[in-house]
Amino acid sequence: MKFPDIKTNLPGPNAAALIGVDRNHVSPSYTRIYPLVAEKAEGLWIHDPDGNTFLDFTAGIAVCATGHCHPYVVNAIKEQANKLLHMSGTDFYYTSQITLAEKLAHLAPGDGSNKVYFGNSGAEAVEAAFKLARWYTKRELNLAFFGAFHGRTMGALSLTASKTIQKKHYNPLIPGITHIPYAYCYRCQYNMSYPECGIECVRWVEDTLFRTTVPPEEVAAIFVEPIQGEGGYIVPPPEFHRELQKIAKKYEILYVADEVQSGMGRTGKMFAMEHFGVVPDIMALAKGIASGMPLGAMVARSDIMVWEAGSHASTFGGNPVSCSAALATIELLEAELMANAKIRGEYLMTELRELQKSMECMGDVRGKGLMVGVELVKDRDTKERATDWRNEVIQKAFQKGLLLLGCGENTIRFSPALTVTVEEIDACLSIFEESLREVAG
Ligand SMILES: Cc1ncc(COP(=O)(O)O)c(C=O)c1O
Repeated sequence: MKFPDIKTNLPGPNAAALIGVDRNHVSPSYTRIYPLVAEKAEGLWIHDPDGNTFLDFTAGIAVCATGHCHPYVVNAIKEQANKLLHMSGTDFYYTSQITLAEKLAHLAPGDGSNKVYFGNSGAEAVEAAFKLARWYTKRELNLAFFGAFHGRTMGALSLTASKTIQKKHYNPLIPGITHIPYAYCYRCQYNMSYPECGIECVRWVEDTLFRTTVPPEEVAAIFVEPIQGEGGYIVPPPEFHRELQKIAKKYEILYVADEVQSGMGRTGKMFAMEHFGVVPDIMALAKGIASGMPLGAMVARSDIMVWEAGSHASTFGGNPVSCSAALATIELLEAELMANAKIRGEYLMTELRELQKSMECMGDVRGKGLMVGVELVKDRDTKERATDWRNEVIQKAFQKGLLLLGCGENTIRFSPALTVTVEEIDACLSIFEESLREVAG
C-alpha cells in the first residue's frame, strides 16, 4: 500500500520560504490551517517543493472530482487552449459553452427543459439564483438555513449563516432573509428524535414562521443545501426536502438547491437532491464541475429563466477552457467515477463506523458517497463538541502526510477525489486512526 512520504519537518525549507513571501503579499483573510504548499499533483497525491508527498482527502475543498490533473481533463484543457481562450459568452457565442449548457440542462433533475447561466464560482452561481428568484417572483423575502454556506459575495453572504467571522463588519447585508434550523438530527433544535418528530423542523415553517412573522406570499425562494457542507456534512432525513418543497409549492415559493459542494457525482448521484426525489426549481453548481478550473453554473427551468437581455451577466463566466474541462469531467463522472463514489463512499463509511465502536470520541459518522463527516465529541451522552480534538487530529494527520479539513464546529470531513481507491482509503484510515488515538485515545 502506498503511504505519504514526509522527508522534512513541515513546512520544509522551500515551503517555509514561500509561506514567508505569502505572509507579506497575500490577503490575510484566507484560512490556511496548516502549511501545505502544493507544487504538483496527480490523482490524490500532492508533492510539495521539498520533496514531500501527501495523500489528499480534501480534493482542494471538494473540487478536484476527477483527481488532480486527470490526463483526460488536462488534454481537453490543452486542446481548447490551443483553439480559443476567451470570447465572453455574455456578448458572443462559442461551442464549448453551448455544448455544456445543453448537457447540464439534460443532466439536471426534471424533464430537461432547463436553461443555464454561467459564472466563475459557487458564490456567483448562488448570487445569480438569488437575483433570478427575485426577478421571476417579484417577491422580496427569502428563507435560508442556520449552518448554511452559500459563498462570500454580499448576496450569497446574506444567505450564509455558517460563522459570524464571515459577516463581522460587513453589515448591513441584504434584508429580508430569515434563517431557520436545518434538519440536523444529531443535534435537533427542537430536542426531538427522528422519526417520532414528524419532521417538526419542516412543520414549524408553516405552523409558526408563516403564521407569525413571514408572510409566505412575499417569499421568493427557499435556499437549501441538499446535504449541508461547510455546516458539518449534515444529511437530513429522507423526507425533509420533499416535505419542505411541498410547503414551498403551496405558496409558489421557488426551491433553490445549492449543489455547489454536494453536486457533480460526489454523493454517488450526479446531484445530491436525486437521493431525496426532489426536482428543484433552480440549482447552483460549481466546485467539482470542471475538475479545478473556475466555473459556476446556475440551472433553472426554462419557464423561470425568463429574465431579459442585460439583466445579469459576467465577462469571464463560462470561459471556453473551463467549459471544455467541465465536459471532460462529466464524461468521466458518467463513465465510472460517480459509481466509484458510491462504492468507495460506502466502504469508507463502513470502516469509519467500525472504528467508531472503539473510539468514544467519534460521536456521529454520516454522509453520502464521498461526502463523509465524523463529528468528534468529548462525551457520547452529553455530545459536548470536541473542537480542540478535531483541530489537533487534523494537524497530526498533516504531519503524517494526510490532508484533511474540518467543517462545522467539530467535524472532520472526508471529501477525496472520486477516483479514490480502496488502498488510498485504507492508507487514509490508518493515519486517521493513529492521529485520533494520539489525541483522544
Ligand atoms: C454549498 C456551497 N455553496 C457555495 C459555496 C461558495 O463557493 P465559492 O467559494 O466557489 O464561491 C460553497 C463553498 O464552499 C459551498 O460549499
